[in-house]
Amino acid sequence: MDRDTLKALQTALEVSPENVALRLTLLRAAVELGETELALASLDPLSPDQLEEIEDRLFIAEFLSEEGSAKAALDWIFGSETPEADLLRARLLMDLGREEEAQEVYTRAITGNPALQDRGLEDLMERRVVRFPSGSRTTEAVAVPPSESGAEGADDALQAEIVTLVAPQEERVTFADVGGLDAVKKQIHRRIISPFEKPSLFAKFRKKAGGGILLYGPPGVGKTLLARATAGECRAAFFNVEISDVLDMWQGESERKLHALFEAARQRKPSVIFFDEIEALGARRRTQGDSGSSHLVSQFLSEMDGFAQDNEGVLIIGASNVPWSIDPAFRRPGRFDRVIFVPPPDREARAAILETMLRERPQAEPIDLAKLAERTSGFSGADLKNVVETAIDIAIDESIDAESVAGLTNAMLKDALQEVRPTTLEWLTTARNYARYANESGQYNDVLDFLGKYGR
Ligand SMILES: Nc1ncnc2c1ncn2[C@@H]1O[C@H](COP(=O)(O)OP(=O)(O)O)[C@@H](O)[C@H]1O
Ligand SMILES: [Mg+2]
Repeated sequence: MDRDTLKALQTALEVSPENVALRLTLLRAAVELGETELALASLDPLSPDQLEEIEDRLFIAEFLSEEGSAKAALDWIFGSETPEADLLRARLLMDLGREEEAQEVYTRAITGNPALQDRGLEDLMERRVVRFPSGSRTTEAVAVPPSESGAEGADDALQAEIVTLVAPQEERVTFADVGGLDAVKKQIHRRIISPFEKPSLFAKFRKKAGGGILLYGPPGVGKTLLARATAGECRAAFFNVEISDVLDMWQGESERKLHALFEAARQRKPSVIFFDEIEALGARRRTQGDSGSSHLVSQFLSEMDGFAQDNEGVLIIGASNVPWSIDPAFRRPGRFDRVIFVPPPDREARAAILETMLRERPQAEPIDLAKLAERTSGFSGADLKNVVETAIDIAIDESIDAESVAGLTNAMLKDALQEVRPTTLEWLTTARNYARYANESGQYNDVLDFLGKYGR
């Protein structure tokens, strides 16, 4: 639709102002082109009873709602009972502060069509912010109120400990901060984020949100970053755990901490528990051989199995650089049965990562990202960061010498490249051996595919 067509429609409507269909066409065109005044003017003589199609009424209601006229918008969907109309009605009622009515029609809407579930609206209605983490209120958000914490043996001290255990220190990270890895992000979206955003839809298909996902790949490719970004993207409480935080020298204490952690997560559903470097949990069993640590593994597995508890709505993400050190029992159905390979970045991804990293760094000339990406085959995200930081150091040195800001140059980055070695090749070599000789149930097929595509 262009402006000439709009003019033509206007002229036509002047000739036959009673033509409702024509008026609607003009209205839609005007809205599409952002001609709000014209849209409002052409809407003026219309009344809801002139329109038979619910779509048309919804369209007008949406338009009015965006214009801030919630009350007028409501009139346009009066009597329409479709789930779509109810969803819009719920939003409008919320705008007007009629929360109870909003709740009611919202429930009717998603009962009729679960795919319409809108957690943003739910949050508004419940005045409850589930988003996590978000700066200063995080600790408060994780603290389990005493009334709910009566569950087995979770005393106050332990609760306090868990709060410190899980409170994330860093800023909220989102997928935008993670360069490349589009395929992995997409998988995470489908498997993690959507099930949490639209639980009713998933329930309808008898598909459960929750379970276990294992991210594995070379060090420094962004597994931890990705898990944090997942937390930032999804509306779930996020428990960030390092195994060393759980391990305790006292007999039975680690198991208790672990249990309390799972309990806290169950009470805050939907929630995600992220275990970074998860191999540390199982590895201890092998190296120390003491019965204490194998208790911890059994405890972990039975928590995962939801033994006597309900784990639905609790998602467990594990990350590891050494998936082959992980106890195979972790991979049984119902545990970490979904496994995602996080590959080293390809050329395009490297360019994207470098772009993210160089943003907001003073530059003396345009940086040739394509060339830099070309020259950094085998570099992980962490390696690339290393290159950029090294170049920045050079720029800072020069700035100090010159007593003015010397921005980054291509030459500085080239010099930095001399000092940083790629680190993913060694990992890939090891992984290839496991893939060749110990590829039980095809768990390393993604690695083989990757090597087939980029391998030497
Ligand atoms: N895809 C990426 N996009 C942006 N930065 C990345 C990426 N991968 C790695 N990095 C950088 O490298 C650092 C280390 O990554 P990390 O997530 O700890 O790797 P891993 O957990 O896989 O060992 C990150 O903090 C980030 O600065
Ligand atoms: Mg990590």
